[in-house]
Amino acid sequence: MSQHLLTVDSLSRESVDHLLRVAARMEPIASRRQVTRVLEGAVLGNLFFEASTRTRVSFNAAFCRLGGSVCDTTGFTFSSMAKGESLYDTSRVMSGYCDAIVMRHPDQGSVAEFAAATNVPVINGGDGPGEHPSQALLDLYTIDKEFHRLGKSLSGAHILLTGDLKYGRTVHSLVKLLSLYDPLRITLASPPGLEMPSTLIDLVASRGHRIEQRESLANDFSDLDVVYATRIQKERFTDEMNESFQGLSDDFMVNRDFLDQRCNQSTIVMHPLPRDSRPGANDLNVDLNGDPRLAIFRQTDNGIPMRMAIFATLLQVDTLIEQQLRPARWFVPSQIGTLDR
Ligand code: NCD
Repeated sequence: MSQHLLTVDSLSRESVDHLLRVAARMEPIASRRQVTRVLEGAVLGNLFFEASTRTRVSFNAAFCRLGGSVCDTTGFTFSSMAKGESLYDTSRVMSGYCDAIVMRHPDQGSVAEFAAATNVPVINGGDGPGEHPSQALLDLYTIDKEFHRLGKSLSGAHILLTGDLKYGRTVHSLVKLLSLYDPLRITLASPPGLEMPSTLIDLVASRGHRIEQRESLANDFSDLDVVYATRIQKERFTDEMNESFQGLSDDFMVNRDFLDQRCNQSTIVMHPLPRDSRPGANDLNVDLNGDPRLAIFRQTDNGIPMRMAIFATLLQVDTLIEQQLRPARWFVPSQIGTLDR
């Protein structure tokens, strides 16, 4: 693995497999049965210049669960970028204070520019419509765990990516990550104008995967293993697009009917979240809440062990974890969510 985690392009199949293995070893800590202090004394800088709940908090929690401490800043208003400070200066300043930095920024390429000014590991927490590599890694970790539970293998699996495939950075990173594995069948379904960039489609096809594009979900998906739905990234639309786009049409509804009528009993449903619950948005339907095929909260939970694995690997303590384990002493409910199964 390289010094920073900026794009999935820097990951080999071996480095991804290593992260999956380290994440699995983090499970007892992530599920609060054991405690480690392997990053005691280390400080993370969490810089979020775009809205975030789970990415910011889970990076923060993952670093704390390894024994480190976190300093963070949210939004441009309270950072010196509001006074015109460059990415270069901010990067050099933060590197004097922190041992690792996570950054989310609205401009594609900005996190790489920030990372170019420092030798401290930088993780891209999302750069505009560019990439979101840690999300793709936790998504792959989720698919791997769910398939293991269901007795399935990734090889030859059928994966549907739907929603905003043009601006959705999570699917950009995920499709590249999946393309490192054995030939898959990947279906892309998006409204006109929100298709996956052709450079990504060509890359995946050139690696031997079967990739098909659809303009609705009105097909037979009876062999589908995973549906990965995404939110329409309205914040990235031009004014013209905002006026003409009224929300996802019924043709893209991922709900109980779609799963029952077009998919099968073991199709799992994923989404990077947040799901847009405003009327007319037609994002992933709440009528699947409590359905065991809905993997979205197992997916968010998996963000902790995977982000712990990323930190442990970048900061080179991944071999020390087992030596440091102690039992956790506080109360933890056996079921975290009331609808968990
Ligand atoms: C995604 C993001 O920020 O790209 N959220 C996340 O990090 N889990 C998806 C989104 O905002 O729609």
